[in-house]
Amino acid sequence: MKAIIVTDQAAGRPGMKLAERPEPTAAINDVIVRIHASGFVPTEMEWPSTWTDRRDHDRTPSIPGHELAGVVTALGYGTTGLSVGQRVFGLADWYRDGTLAEYVAIEARNLAPLPGDVDFTVGASLPVSGLTAWQGLFQHGRLQAGQSVLAHGAAGAVGSMVTQLAREFGAYVIGTGRAADRQKALDFGAKEFVDLDNDTLEDVGRIDLVFDVIGGDIQKRSAGLIRPGGTLVSIVGPADARPSDGLAVDFVVESDRTQLTEIVQRVRDGRLRTNIGNVASLENAVAALNPTERRRGNTIIRVRP
Ligand SMILES: NC(=O)c1ccc[n+]([C@@H]2O[C@H](COP(=O)([O-])OP(=O)(O)OC[C@H]3O[C@@H](n4cnc5c(N)ncnc54)[C@H](OP(=O)(O)O)[C@@H]3O)[C@@H](O)[C@H]2O)c1
Repeated sequence: MKAIIVTDQAAGRPGMKLAERPEPTAAINDVIVRIHASGFVPTEMEWPSTWTDRRDHDRTPSIPGHELAGVVTALGYGTTGLSVGQRVFGLADWYRDGTLAEYVAIEARNLAPLPGDVDFTVGASLPVSGLTAWQGLFQHGRLQAGQSVLAHGAAGAVGSMVTQLAREFGAYVIGTGRAADRQKALDFGAKEFVDLDNDTLEDVGRIDLVFDVIGGDIQKRSAGLIRPGGTLVSIVGPADARPSDGLAVDFVVESDRTQLTEIVQRVRDGRLRTNIGNVASLENAVAALNPTERRRGNTIIRVRP
């Protein structure tokens, strides 16, 4: 099968290559999915799981990309809950070969059914950003209706989902980002916007939940804004700064069938909008995933037309 592979950590994203790889086989509780569309997180090249297995042994050449939408073509021994021919979407294991390929072997529990009226490109854009926002707000952040949320990078892939889900849940959302992102963040449902290059972040006042996708100095300053009892949720590693009277949580997103189903239902009924920037073929994936211009939302690789 055709796949994008990486072999050299030092080369980073430009080291991606289109290559021929053996088709995967299904282990216990796996399914094989014929991939129609695939999503990739730009920082995957920095994650140890792209390069080594759970025992820290080299696993290159590895196939990056962990979001997928496609059709089940085979079931492994013991697999229940999905059937051959079913449309699915979900999030592949970080330590296994990923989804920038024609086929992937993936545990069935990492997938949810993709309704027939949802395009594969849309399905592949949801798992990482949707699940990260969901888990950060509702599981780790324990958001309550009426609370205030500072959604950093609100026009980005994760931030746009955070903004929409928090707003729908009844939170007051303040988005942040670059000056050019103001209207996009407001369109996703932020009530206010802070241009981090030109406005004063501290002017937003007290916040119940900070959702940090940036880290560094922005994270430190944000921690100081948190109300007693509030939460700093970070998805960019352990927080350097903790709120003085609150919680700091960092986490890595996990697949969850129930949450995927909630998310796709919101896309179908219009409560949630996708944030897809560029769509490219597998043949053009290396160039598309190494853009010369600023990334705007998710880049989706359409593996099959
Ligand atoms: N822990 C997890 O499970 C998990 C899951 C998903 C993503 N992540 C991580 O979360 C981060 C965000 O991912 P994403 O896919 O949402 O990225 P993205 O689509 O690039 O969104 C990030 C947004 O924040 C903006 N931003 C970043 N630094 C900024 C700064 N200093 N000032 C103003 N705006 C700034 C970016 O603008 P520019 O493009 O102009 O910088 C962009 O609009 C990445 O580091 C990713 O690896 C972690």
